[in-house]
Amino acid sequence: MKTIVVQWDCRFGDPEFNFSRAMELMERETADIYVLPELCLSGYNFKDKQEVDDLSEESHGAYAHKFMDLARSRNCFLAYGFAEKASAGIYNSANLIGPDGLIGTYRKIHLFNRETLFFLPGDRPFRVYETPVGKLGLMVCFDWFFPESARTLALQGAELILHPSNLVLSWCPDAMRYHALWNGVFTATSNRIGREDRGGHVFEYIGRSIIYSPQGELLAEAPLEQEGICSAELDLSLAREKDLNEYNDRIQSRQPEFYSDISVT
Ligand code: ACM
Repeated sequence: MKTIVVQWDCRFGDPEFNFSRAMELMERETADIYVLPELCLSGYNFKDKQEVDDLSEESHGAYAHKFMDLARSRNCFLAYGFAEKASAGIYNSANLIGPDGLIGTYRKIHLFNRETLFFLPGDRPFRVYETPVGKLGLMVCFDWFFPESARTLALQGAELILHPSNLVLSWCPDAMRYHALWNGVFTATSNRIGREDRGGHVFEYIGRSIIYSPQGELLAEAPLEQEGICSAELDLSLAREKDLNEYNDRIQSRQPEFYSDISVT
């Protein structure tokens, strides 16, 4: 099951450019699953709510349909981040799409930095989608900072976590190794590159899109500053074996009765 993570310098406010760039990069190699960055159509560094509104679309919007056409014609799955227009407001979301259409939309739960000004926090639990290529979980960028995100997906049976990102904190690509190892899952992080300097706020994105195995092995890594794709062949059945040895299992050896956040002195 071949997975490709795609990275490029998403151009702010130019969804048409970003969509064609994504298509060009995806055309370089055939895969079963593609992962594209967070907010990959709009860009990330919004000045105000009006821009977010102008660059958002519904989960079944025009670009979602273009990605659905692609997934149908290439018989593949893909996850991409976009600003989702919904009745309550706008979410920082990721769509999971397959050959038969839209499978699900995840709304980013842990908003980062100025995103909190522009987006509503996700209002739905993490969830895993059972697909013909495997059990796929979605999280978006800063969700990585909260170990509960990957753990929740693993407890629900995720075999591969798809992780569209616009990373600015340099620890993430290394931290993903431990989410993979601790949870016994594959992870595929797709991150953008480049720099956005808008309205007095600067974000520099760190590239290094990365794929790990359930043993924390590095399977593929893109460079810091170069556009491109990187790929790995994944045997998702390995994510069903949670044992470390005869006595320890990543899931069964947990002791949840001792994980309460109430401290008694
Ligand atoms: C991030 O969550 N985009 C850093």
